[in-house]
Amino acid sequence: MKLLILLGPPGAGKGTQAQLLMTKHGLIQLSTGDMLRAAVKAGSDVGREADAIMKSGGLVSDEIVTKLISDRLDDEAHAPGFIFDGYPRTQAQAEALDALLSARGLKLDHVIELEVDEDALVDRISGRFTCATCNEGYHDRYKLPKVAGTCDVCGSHEFKRRPDDNAETVRTRLAEYRAKTAPILPHYEAQGIVARVDGMADIDVVTESIDRILGEPATV
Ligand code: AP5
Repeated sequence: MKLLILLGPPGAGKGTQAQLLMTKHGLIQLSTGDMLRAAVKAGSDVGREADAIMKSGGLVSDEIVTKLISDRLDDEAHAPGFIFDGYPRTQAQAEALDALLSARGLKLDHVIELEVDEDALVDRISGRFTCATCNEGYHDRYKLPKVAGTCDVCGSHEFKRRPDDNAETVRTRLAEYRAKTAPILPHYEAQGIVARVDGMADIDVVTESIDRILGEPATV
């Protein structure tokens, strides 16, 4: 089983790359951001607690996100591997993930840090939108649908933007990343599993760099 963490600030391309790697390597994407947004949409207790925190750009509690990950690891016990996208984000989450994996006899293979200039992050996030039906990601300048107003994947004509993708919230999310997430890198550097990738390159070039780190895709 292959296990990797995609680490990087908001807008670094974690979700974009996770989607591509899922298709290519047959891995399952575990995005705590997506899980929390689904909980908000469903109006669950977790969603009600997370909603205001996410809109402010702060971090949801370690307990909530770790429970979401733990449940998904159990649900997908037979998966060929996982891409952790947006988790862990704090030292407590990094330690909790170690415990979750060790209890299942699993071990991380790679932590891939996507490095992107901060100016580019704001630009990327403010231009981002997704298909309201299948969630395919687009960008006002870098990745428009091939036929204007029509999703390339499912043909839907409805698109949406995230409520936390505004300049003020992005600044808070970046500050949270610097203060709480970047400091977990030494935890993984000590294990010799960190690789850095230039996230400023074109999307397919970033994917090629990650492919080289992961090795040959499994046959799926
Ligand atoms: P989350 O959903 O995880 O958001 P994030 O980390 O802020 O990351 P983003 O999804 O904004 O960016 P990304 O790196 O995936 O970039 P993307 O591929 O979309 O978390 C949201 C919130 O949930 C948090 O603020 C927090 O409140 C809460 N939360 C989630 N997990 C939590 C946790 N573990 N603990 C506590 N709270 C948690 O790319 C961005 C744009 O750039 C796209 O338009 C894309 O097309 C474009 N793009 C991507 N790559 C490139 C490239 N190489 N060149 C040009 N454009 C590119």
